[in-house]
Amino acid sequence: QSGYITIDPGYKNTGATQSAITFLDGELGILNYRGYPIDQLAEKSNFIEVAYLLIYGSLPTATELEEFSTKIKMHTLVHEDIRKILDGFPSTAHPMGILSSLAGSLTAFYPESLNPNQTEEEMNLSIIRLIAKLSTIAAWSYKNSIGHPVIYPKNNLDYCSNFLHMMFAYPTEEYKVNPVVVDALNKLLILHADHEQNCSTSTVRLVGSANGSLYSSVSAGICALWGPLHGGANQEVIEMLEAIKADGGDSKKWIEKAKDKNDPFRLMGFGHRVYKNFDPRAKIIKAACDTILADLGVVDPVLNIAKELEEAALTDPYFIDRKLYPNVDFYSGIIYRAMGIPTEMFTVMFALGRLPGWIAQWKEMRTNKEPIGRPRQIYTGETVRDYIPMAERK
Ligand code: SDX
Repeated sequence: QSGYITIDPGYKNTGATQSAITFLDGELGILNYRGYPIDQLAEKSNFIEVAYLLIYGSLPTATELEEFSTKIKMHTLVHEDIRKILDGFPSTAHPMGILSSLAGSLTAFYPESLNPNQTEEEMNLSIIRLIAKLSTIAAWSYKNSIGHPVIYPKNNLDYCSNFLHMMFAYPTEEYKVNPVVVDALNKLLILHADHEQNCSTSTVRLVGSANGSLYSSVSAGICALWGPLHGGANQEVIEMLEAIKADGGDSKKWIEKAKDKNDPFRLMGFGHRVYKNFDPRAKIIKAACDTILADLGVVDPVLNIAKELEEAALTDPYFIDRKLYPNVDFYSGIIYRAMGIPTEMFTVMFALGRLPGWIAQWKEMRTNKEPIGRPRQIYTGETVRDYIPMAERK
């Protein structure tokens, strides 16, 4: 503490804003979007309806939802020049790198999005464009990674069916979307849609606070989400479970490894800055795992390893003392994999889910005319000193 400045690494005890969008209670494991409990929305709603709820603050009427969904369908097509940029990426390019680059490129293609005094109508068009086009860019980034031709969106499909069609259809083959997979995708995207002031959302707000366009702000948010401690954890969880399986499936050995302070290994998918109880999303995803894998007739050996790991951790004093529970990333990868989505696309799926939350938080920050974000510091460097000519340097 120095004078009036308090240093709070990681902002563990610092509130950045007041928000009416999402309510979290970390002790009780509660998560509500605009007052609606997450389990009810996951059970009864669909992703586009939840996106509308988060962004505009209330559940849409049938007409409002129809209009919102139709506008999104009409804007899923991506400018041919953006597809040409995509063609320039090697197949080794990580889909999250493509997503953040092309999301940011939307600012170049739609420079009016930079206008800080956009009308309500202009902001809504920016919002529709981003939701629609990011799903196409995400699917195309996958096609790029497997060297397949991109599949153009179909305007007669709902958001999730259209995304799956663009992901898995092939020009010379008939592709039928599986309703079980569509339902699972809706549920997963709903569960990821917002989470108050997490790392990537705070990044979106910070870029937006400088009057950065919605597209540039979301591009920055994608980069923050990519971090393995944040949204990148879902990919790390599967890689960890696979490593445990390859190592003979000895969960206890890996629990000890996660506890060893001399070992940088952490139990990926465990722990949370806010939840010091079960992450309510993890509970819903874990339950959905059994149903969806059974409906799809998929048996995934890592699911049992995940359950054993959870059991072992929840009875181990190290995890109990630190209140470390499974978080949203612990089981989500198992469902994505059962749906045929490859590991390197898991964080892209997180980004698609989180997009309405980023948009809602950016819009709230701009509507509330919040000041540019500029934290202070306590200086600990050299005291003042004179320049040393090159000849006198040692
Ligand atoms: C997401 O903020 C959000 O809301 C994020 C998110 C969202 O929806 O936006 O919920 C999404 O990012 C979920 C988290 C995904 N990340 C992981 O699963 C990575 C593994 N988990 C951690 O690295 C960690 O738990 C964090 C990053 C999630 C939280 O870190 P904190 O709050 O900064 O806690 P910390 O690192 O200070 O850990 C406290 C103690 C430490 O031990 P001690 O120094 O007290 O002895 O707990 C230990 C840590 O070593 N610890 C772990 C651990 N997580 C914390 N030990 C082993 N395995 C772990 N996973």
